[in-house]
Amino acid sequence: MAARFAFFVVASALLLLHCFANSTDLDLEELGTAPVFSYSGNTGPDKWGSLSPLYATCSNGKAQSPIDIVKNKVVRNKNLKPLRREYYPANATLVNHGYNVGLVFGNAGVLILNGKNYTLLQMHWHSPSEHKIHGVTFDVELHLVHMASDGSLAVIAILYKIGDADPIIAKIQSKLAELAKEVFTNQDQIAVGTYDTWKLRRNTRKYYRYIGSLTTPPCTENVIWHIFGKERSISKEQIEALKAPVKATCKKNSRPVQPLNGRQVELFDEFS
Ligand SMILES: *[C@@H]1O[C@H](CO)[C@@H](O)[C@H](O)[C@H]1NC(C)=O
Ligand SMILES: *[C@@H]1O[C@H](CO)[C@@H](O)[C@H](O)[C@H]1NC(C)=O
Ligand SMILES: *[C@@H]1O[C@H](CO)[C@@H](O)[C@H](O)[C@H]1NC(C)=O
Repeated sequence: MAARFAFFVVASALLLLHCFANSTDLDLEELGTAPVFSYSGNTGPDKWGSLSPLYATCSNGKAQSPIDIVKNKVVRNKNLKPLRREYYPANATLVNHGYNVGLVFGNAGVLILNGKNYTLLQMHWHSPSEHKIHGVTFDVELHLVHMASDGSLAVIAILYKIGDADPIIAKIQSKLAELAKEVFTNQDQIAVGTYDTWKLRRNTRKYYRYIGSLTTPPCTENVIWHIFGKERSISKEQIEALKAPVKATCKKNSRPVQPLNGRQVELFDEFS
């Protein structure tokens, strides 16, 4: 329940931020009616904005994610710093959102940006990758979603190529298999117990930073993105395990890249 609630809090906060910031009559019923979206057909990405007023930003937004990070347009910013993170082991629940699989935490630590704490609430995966680097799509993209107490969001994205198994996913692989079986019993979550996010804390010497949005409805903007420059590796079996529980229309769950509309992508690179 705790984790379910945590996810609900995130979902609610996002919707709140997005369009109910000035409304007091938001109730839980209303959130429950947020329409289903997918990655193909008449609920696919090009239709998201028209599925609901709640999702309007998906089509009206001018600072949407993901994007193609074109290297020769990236500007190095010497004021950027290594990311400061303090993650710790936390009770986790594996949740099948239908459109992706997420590992949801109560509070698994913080990302500290300019003295502001963003709590790590959730990690989830997209395949193939959503962000592209110089036109190149990767096999998988992991998102670490952090939220500050004022509701503002910061996401860390890690790109994966097929190769050796990823130890971070290996720890939940049997739970992913269980979750896939539970689809038939309408069970959409499985307790994982204490999950150690320590390995995720390993810092990067290179990242791209830009201001964008959530890549799923309601496509809320002003998300601070950090895309790590160094990819990790994942096995084919692990990709299948991540896909197995989600809906047929969401097996490929990456939103197409969005226009930059004049946004600047900045680079932090410790070694150049
Ligand atoms: C961990 O989460 C599960 C599932 O939400 C819950 O049943 C359990 O009580 C939690 N354990 C702790 C120590 O918080
Ligand atoms: C909230 O709504 C009221 C009444 O519609 C309006 O006067 C006020 O300017 C709005 N506040 C914000 C922050 O949008
Ligand atoms: C931010 O996180 C750090 C590290 O956990 C902690 O020491 C600090 O008290 C937090 N600050 C606030 C305002 O919560």
